[in-house]
Amino acid sequence: MAIPSKLAHVVYMTRRYEEMLAWYQAVFEARVQYQNPAFAFLTYDDEHHRFAFANMSLLKPEIAEMDAASKIGVNHVGYTFANAGELLENYDRLKQIGISPYWSVHHGVTLSMYYRDPDGNRMEFQVDCCANADEAHAFMHCDAFAANPVGVDYDADALLAEYRNGAAEDALLAMPTGVPARIPPEHGLL
Ligand SMILES: [Fe+2]
Repeated sequence: MAIPSKLAHVVYMTRRYEEMLAWYQAVFEARVQYQNPAFAFLTYDDEHHRFAFANMSLLKPEIAEMDAASKIGVNHVGYTFANAGELLENYDRLKQIGISPYWSVHHGVTLSMYYRDPDGNRMEFQVDCCANADEAHAFMHCDAFAANPVGVDYDADALLAEYRNGAAEDALLAMPTGVPARIPPEHGLL
């Protein structure tokens, strides 16, 4: 059985965006890897992001601050698998027991699958496509990322078939060409 090789990151939904970024920078001495008005990625080591923050005041401004309890907090927890084969073996194993991702997306920096537990808590199973945080940092500041920061959806069954047919790791991790992915409603951000 393939299991994650590490716990990678936690993504928070916040309505105190600047304050939260400042707090995590102070407490963890984290540095900002990437930031725009809606999203920020911070790290404190060689992981490309240990924390991400979604600015819900911008993404869902219509919800009153006092009613926002269900719209802040943890959005998802990310787990890294050692390689694409293990991610796909895990996908196949879960599929056999009726558990499927609600979103399969290649983020550029990661090949990702998002799941929800019975309570609706989200998790991301991913494989790193960048060798280290520096490479991920560079990717997040290239024109392609600015044009499409979310990524491109992929067909997990098709990728599993490629893996079963002996495709190389590089090929499995390659970012597909296609239109920018739409963040699905199940992801809670939009
Ligand atoms: Fe994530």
